Amino acid sequence: MKLPGLIDPHVHMREPGAAHKEDWDSGTAAALAGGFTAVLAMPNTSPPVTGAETLDLALQAAGKKARCDYAQYLGAGPQIPDGLDDLARRSAGLKMYLDQTYGPLRLDEMTLWMAHFERWPHDRPIVAHAESRTLAAVILLAGLYDRPVHLAHVSLKEEILLIRKAKERGLKVTCEVAPHHLLLSTEDLPHLGQGRGEVRPRLASPEDRKALWENLAYIDCFATDHAPHTAAEKDSENPPPGFPGLETALPLLLSAVHEGRLSLEDVVLRMHTNPRQIFGLPEQPDTWIEVDEEAEWEIRGQEMLSRSAWTPFEGWKVRGRVQRVVLRGQEVYRDGQVLAPPGYGRNLRDDLAI
Ligand code: NCD
Ligand code: ZN
Ligand code: ZN
Repeated sequence: MKLPGLIDPHVHMREPGAAHKEDWDSGTAAALAGGFTAVLAMPNTSPPVTGAETLDLALQAAGKKARCDYAQYLGAGPQIPDGLDDLARRSAGLKMYLDQTYGPLRLDEMTLWMAHFERWPHDRPIVAHAESRTLAAVILLAGLYDRPVHLAHVSLKEEILLIRKAKERGLKVTCEVAPHHLLLSTEDLPHLGQGRGEVRPRLASPEDRKALWENLAYIDCFATDHAPHTAAEKDSENPPPGFPGLETALPLLLSAVHEGRLSLEDVVLRMHTNPRQIFGLPEQPDTWIEVDEEAEWEIRGQEMLSRSAWTPFEGWKVRGRVQRVVLRGQEVYRDGQVLAPPGYGRNLRDDLAI
């Protein structure tokens, strides 16, 4: 079966600063193995990407190493950087961290949120990590500033119900849900273990998970929030939050299709069509993936190309496997082998890229 190249609007490539967790090479190899031909990389690197210099640093690493196409987010910081229009044009969008998570980019002051909403060009994406009541505040800002906002990794019933209401009112909000919030819950925490179960937003109740499935119509994208940390870090005293997800997302969702919980059209809409439209990404010509939808296999962290080499879905039996990926006319992945060299990936925000 042939599908369009998948687009993941939410991944953490960890470069610059933490290549032992992942870098642009291993992260984009994992993307291709998972059927993704484009990824949008988050700015909570070290140093975080918050201005022209750090954006250049991340894009230089990506330019040298990426094997699939990409764009890099700018993180909203305490200052509005100079040359904002240029930064907006060169980045995937503005990422605002409004609740506690991994990295130093959290913004607490609501006056700063307002400044960013006012200044960031209204035709360029803003993505917010906002949970619960913070999410309600962001939806209010989307209304007040009359501009689109994309809500990252929605996990709670109250969140999806609020988004539903906002959409019914015509507010320009879109949202994504990660496979782990659709498929795991607090009930999985005992067997995952404390450190390995750490993720932001936290795994939610079975009732929250059920509400996400019941409100699928209001979920615009499935995004992995691929957040690699090593197994040793996850098992340490101070485990960082985050799950890797690039290599498991499509097989897990195709398994849900097989079980009749989703349609294939639901998947393509949320992993290709909507992300392309919401983030204004160019079409990737001569690009597709080939999937054996009947292949049954068992997920193993050790077999993943992501440097994190563990997964909360260890041992899950899934149906559906990526066999081949063609990106801009070149065979870039086949039967477990990544064929695209580092540097083959193009920056989707570079006008000359495609
Ligand atoms: C992410 C990370 O590790 O960068 N962690 C996570 O638990 N999701 C940060 C984030 O997406 O908030
Ligand atoms: Zn987040
Ligand atoms: Zn994230």
